[in-house]
Amino acid sequence: MTAPLARQFADGFGMSPALVVRAPGRVNLIGEHTDYNDGFVLPAAISVESRVVAAPRGDGVIRVMACDFGGATAQWPLDATYAADPAHGWADYIRAMTAAMSARGHALTGADLAVSGTVPQGAGLSSSASLMVGIGTALAALSGLAIAPADIALMAQAGECDHVGVRCGIMDQLASACGVRDHALMIDCRSRAVRPVALPKGVEILIVHSGVARGLVEGAYNDRRAQCEAAAAAVGVSALRDADMAMLEGARLDAVTLARARHVVTENARVLAAAEALAAGDLVAMGALMAASHASMRDDFRITVPAIDALVTELQALIGLEGGARMTGGGFGGAVVALCPADSADAVLAGLTYRKPDGSPPLVLRETACDGAGLVMS
Ligand code: GLA
Repeated sequence: MTAPLARQFADGFGMSPALVVRAPGRVNLIGEHTDYNDGFVLPAAISVESRVVAAPRGDGVIRVMACDFGGATAQWPLDATYAADPAHGWADYIRAMTAAMSARGHALTGADLAVSGTVPQGAGLSSSASLMVGIGTALAALSGLAIAPADIALMAQAGECDHVGVRCGIMDQLASACGVRDHALMIDCRSRAVRPVALPKGVEILIVHSGVARGLVEGAYNDRRAQCEAAAAAVGVSALRDADMAMLEGARLDAVTLARARHVVTENARVLAAAEALAAGDLVAMGALMAASHASMRDDFRITVPAIDALVTELQALIGLEGGARMTGGGFGGAVVALCPADSADAVLAGLTYRKPDGSPPLVLRETACDGAGLVMS
């Protein structure tokens, strides 16, 4: 993708780019809606990615060309206050990132940027976080600023929360910024400590997009977060990370709030167990944990949809005991992640009969865990 993107940059801006950055999407193996509860998650950066081709400019203006939107361009001064631009909605995440970096006091250079991506949108694979982390990485390099990847992740999260309006946690951005090849990342979202966990040799990550579009900004995500915060307040803890089942049961929560909190408390325990299972190469234990996670998202957190439940059930049956499947990402649509021995992946996919709501076959990604965002050397 880089050569055509660099050519589009040269054609569009009339000069050669100074650098190229890649920033991966992520798949979450387990630990959903736990990040903003100060809990644990186990994502991996994957090969689908955002690319940013960039050159500095001296007038404090950011000018962006969206190669996936027919070469459309948008521009704004770095010192402008963030405002969504309905005519260039695709640029809002980029505006949010430059605003978040400026708000942190970083003296950024103006820049010409061309962006393109292979992360499917609305799949729960972090197309927006990868774009923001890619922009942050490119602008830091162009500006000669040594900003740690975790700090770029924090600014991307701040931009999404403060400007785009999704009160997301830190998982997606940290996974994109700090991914490690062939490893999942065990992230403690309170301390933000990231511990790479080697994926067992001979395991394949399959991602199947249900074809049901997802809408994080539509409010359901923020509603879940508000319910979790209400539960934590009722239990008397600062975040559900600090609650256990006995505390929930003693707090006289209403049935819905109890169910939401139960998902978070049990999911945190599953993530810790899953990190151990992966490290031990125990695909049977991992599969059971993924199944329990999906059931908890379906029954307690209520973020799955019937098409995804059916897809997960089918993949679980095809995979059998060694490995498993669950919905991945924020929910209400999007993709399913499955783990299985690499030598059975062909048979699993050959047996899959799931069809998208429009009747066509689903998008399937056969993924490997990749390194986090960085400059592309060639
Ligand atoms: C989205 C958010 C993340 C996380 C997941 C659910 O991807 O951006 O912060 O909350 O949903 O686990």
